[in-house]
Amino acid sequence: MISIVRRRSVRVVLLIVLIVFGLTKCIDKNSNKSDAEAISDSPATPQLHAPSYSQFAGGGKCAGCHKDIYEDHKKTGHFLTSRPPDPAYILGSFKEGKNRYDYNPSLVVVMEKRDSGLYQVVYFKGEEKVALPFNMVVGSGTKGQTFVHQKGNRLYQLPISYFSEADQWSNSPGFPSRVLFDRPITTRCLECHATFAETITPPGQEPEEFNDKKIIYGVDCERCHGPAVEHVEFHTANPGEVRGKHIQDPSALTRQQIVDLCALCHGGKMDKIQPSFTFTAGDKLSDFFIPDSLQALAVNLGNVDVHGNQNGLLKASKCYTMSSTLTCVSCHNPHKNERGSLAVFSQRCMGCHSAGHEPICKMTGKLGSSITSNCIDCHMPKQVSRAIALQMPGEDVPRAALIRSHFISIYPDETSKFLRSSEKPLAKPK
Ligand code: HEC
Ligand code: HEC
Ligand code: HEC
Ligand code: HEC
Ligand code: HEC
Ligand code: HEC
Ligand code: HEC
Repeated sequence: MISIVRRRSVRVVLLIVLIVFGLTKCIDKNSNKSDAEAISDSPATPQLHAPSYSQFAGGGKCAGCHKDIYEDHKKTGHFLTSRPPDPAYILGSFKEGKNRYDYNPSLVVVMEKRDSGLYQVVYFKGEEKVALPFNMVVGSGTKGQTFVHQKGNRLYQLPISYFSEADQWSNSPGFPSRVLFDRPITTRCLECHATFAETITPPGQEPEEFNDKKIIYGVDCERCHGPAVEHVEFHTANPGEVRGKHIQDPSALTRQQIVDLCALCHGGKMDKIQPSFTFTAGDKLSDFFIPDSLQALAVNLGNVDVHGNQNGLLKASKCYTMSSTLTCVSCHNPHKNERGSLAVFSQRCMGCHSAGHEPICKMTGKLGSSITSNCIDCHMPKQVSRAIALQMPGEDVPRAALIRSHFISIYPDETSKFLRSSEKPLAKPK
């Protein structure tokens, strides 16, 4: 407790310093501008600074004292969402015949294992044009993976991605039907898919340049709990201390703070007003981002896209608006991979919807006790994503990934579909 109060006061002082600094910088900047330009820049927002690499202990350090959480967490999409370019982490095939993407008969990209590493090699009319190395893997592979190559200190998305549903290489989402290799990977991309990445360009300067020795892969412990080198040092030196020090107590977070933490990455498209990696657990998201106003409209129409906006969709649901306690962690254990465990999730629904916790499902009479194993397919159906859609060879329209809607509601069509599929003689003895 004491440590938190101290941290807050340090932060307030820091904030004041930053405001003063920010203001002077702003005046400075505005003196070279016309009045109209100067007005459009106000009000002045103090620019925060991202933490430094040395403040991170690394998730491996946590294992010593939080073994169970660490072991569970290693299996999550979060932990696995960015990794070095080890062949073991890449789901697409490098075997001849399965290792290519044909844009057209003359233009082909082949995924090759060479002595110096893994490459996407572009061939035009059979002649090698360029070989781009795989330098990073993005995505655990639930829906797909995309790859990063490094040129100098800059990072770019490779033209070919992997689409899990089809188990195939495909054109990277949103790429045109020609080879493109100049789409930059930014800190915003890594802010959602990594724990930390140090830039060597000043904030705001684009394209950004990175120090490739100072990238911390995966959404690891310290992405959610904040840099923890002090916490580790303190507890290593004081093994008798049973209360967590120099770390935000997650049970003290308010509903808004927890949802904001998850919404940093599950809030869809937002424009940042602070540099990437400055937001940390306990902060208020609206101090760091301007939510997309068009997106808010889409949420109201229940028609929002995900890569992913679970936050916006959940907040439009009655479960959220009419309860005062529901957060993402009411249903999700933040440290465990529970993907596919629909019965487990359904139990969590019944914490608020079962005898004694009304309303209960109006289909209860009709479906009997079998209802308890799957509330999800009727009330949180899978819908097509417009952001994660990949171009498959030989197909005219991109194929989209399916994603669970977090607009928890009544979907008559899904109910019919569910009832039809359960009428099939599932229990027929073989
Ligand atoms: C040397 C032992 C040690 C190491 C290493 C360690 N912790 Fe802890 N941590 C503790 C103890 C002791 C507590 C308090 C008891 C508890 O909650 O488990 C704690 C509590 C916490 C809490 C809850 C805070 C609270 O107030 O209850 C979080 C979050 C946490 N640690 C995160 C981490 C992370 C992230 C790492 C790795 C970067 C880490 N810890 C490494 C000993 C350690
Ligand atoms: C996606 C964000 C996220 C990641 C990644 C994450 N945590 Fe947590 N952690 C949370 C949240 C949120 C809570 C509070 C959960 C609650 O209130 O039910 C929490 C609670 C805790 C606690 C205290 C309560 C408990 O369960 O014992 C500890 C200790 C902890 N985390 C350690 C870790 C460690 C160690 C790692 C990495 C191996 C890690 N966390 C990774 C979000 C995260
Ligand atoms: C730093 C960004 C970040 C934060 C913060 C974050 N997530 Fe995620 N989350 C991701 C990314 C990226 C993925 C996709 C990972 C993948 O599969 O490659 C993901 C995936 C998930 C999944 C899907 C796992 C699966 O495969 O079924 C769940 C559930 C989830 N997050 C819940 C949460 C919750 C709850 C919180 C808040 C406690 C949270 N996330 C905070 C980035 C984040
Ligand atoms: C606002 C946070 C955010 C940003 C920015 C972001 N992503 Fe994601 N990404 C997610 C989340 C969350 C998921 C999990 C799927 C979902 O819920 O939509 C995801 C899923 C993915 C997946 C599929 C992962 C899997 O295992 O199925 C890939 C690949 C991916 N993102 C790549 C990228 C790349 C490349 C960039 C930058 C150009 C990027 N993302 C920018 C949050 C983000
Ligand atoms: C924290 C408690 C809580 C949890 C957990 C919860 N809900 Fe709700 N839910 C509510 C409340 C409160 C309402 C509004 C009830 C009312 O209208 O009086 C609601 C309403 C609903 C409705 C009616 C929606 C509408 O638009 O009419 C459905 C359907 C529903 N919940 C399904 C679910 C499912 C499925 C889950 C699990 C995935 C779930 N709920 C988890 C609290 C919760
Ligand atoms: C009422 C329960 C409930 C709440 C609250 C909830 N989720 Fe989920 N979430 C689910 C269920 C159920 C699934 C589907 C799991 C599966 O298919 O394995 C899911 C799936 C996901 C996925 C994977 C989506 C996909 O289709 O791949 C992500 C990401 C996610 N949730 C993030 C969040 C975030 C972030 C929040 C808070 C803003 C949140 N969830 C709140 C129940 C909930
Ligand atoms: C076969 C599809 C189906 C399944 C499975 C299902 N529901 Fe429903 N649910 C519905 C439909 C349809 C309605 C609206 C019925 C009506 O209005 O007559 C509904 C209504 C509800 C309501 C609103 C009740 C009210 O009085 O406003 C809640 C809450 C709810 N369901 C929760 C759940 C929970 C929790 C589960 C899992 C234990 C579940 N449902 C399983 C289809 C389903």
